[in-house]
Amino acid sequence: MNSISLMFLVLLTYSQIVHSNVEKVIFTSSLAEPYPTDASFDNLLLVPLSEEHPTLRTQLNVSFPNSSSPNGQAHWFFLESLRPHQRYEVRICWAATQPTEFSLATFQVDAVLSDSSLLSSVSEYAYARHAKLGTGDIEALQRRKTAVRPDTTLLFLRLLAAADYYSPNDTLMMAAPPVAVDVILDRYIFNVFPKSLIPTALYLVLIAGCAWFVSGWVSRVCTAPSNEPPTSKKSQ
Ligand SMILES: *[C@@H]1O[C@H](CO)[C@@H](O)[C@H](O)[C@H]1NC(C)=O
Ligand SMILES: *[C@@H]1O[C@H](CO)[C@@H](O)[C@H](O)[C@H]1NC(C)=O
Ligand SMILES: *[C@@H]1O[C@H](CO)[C@@H](O)[C@H](O)[C@H]1NC(C)=O
Repeated sequence: MNSISLMFLVLLTYSQIVHSNVEKVIFTSSLAEPYPTDASFDNLLLVPLSEEHPTLRTQLNVSFPNSSSPNGQAHWFFLESLRPHQRYEVRICWAATQPTEFSLATFQVDAVLSDSSLLSSVSEYAYARHAKLGTGDIEALQRRKTAVRPDTTLLFLRLLAAADYYSPNDTLMMAAPPVAVDVILDRYIFNVFPKSLIPTALYLVLIAGCAWFVSGWVSRVCTAPSNEPPTSKKSQ
């Protein structure tokens, strides 16, 4: 019992430490649907995340919240080749030295196409990005592309990034510097446990198992001598 409660304590402490710079969204993918054939989809040139390419290390522009963008600047990605009816999470990790408020959300293709504010957000983002893309960036994008399988589904990921600090330095208050982030797509095994956490979980289980056996052995060693006198008394 002790080792199990210790394990929970470790997990709790750990999750509180990392909370300061991890944000995530958990979602269940929809039914398989054909990949949109519309060429404008490919022309968006959004960076795709998939099980084959689950991580992305990048710099994201952030902005201070204002009346028109209360949650900061929007960034859009594709979540591609998702297994249907499968639970996933997307995590974003960033350095605690760059205080930022991130909000993540996923949207089905139809939801974006039928909502004018989402659609204009996607196209604004795509236009701004196109202007900055070099040929190297486009080649890197092509390498991330996975062959589209018919039994998969596609989602939009929206990431809102708002600067979350106050500085006496006017330069930093006028324009927040871009934030270095890792964006990670993680599939849940049996829809309960994130795949990337399995090594950590096995490690904790191993530690807990060892602690269990060692504590049992220690208590036997410690209690053995005190058990001795009663048995010798009985035999007298
Ligand atoms: C709010 O911030 C966004 C993102 O930086 C910017 O595009 C927009 O012009 C700002 N709006 C106002 C009213 O300042
Ligand atoms: C990020 O911010 C820089 C500087 O303000 C700007 O030049 C660039 O176009 C922005 N990138 C995107 C993708 O909006
Ligand atoms: C303000 O911040 C900018 C960007 O980090 C830096 O280059 C500059 O030296 C700072 N200015 C002062 C007065 O600290």
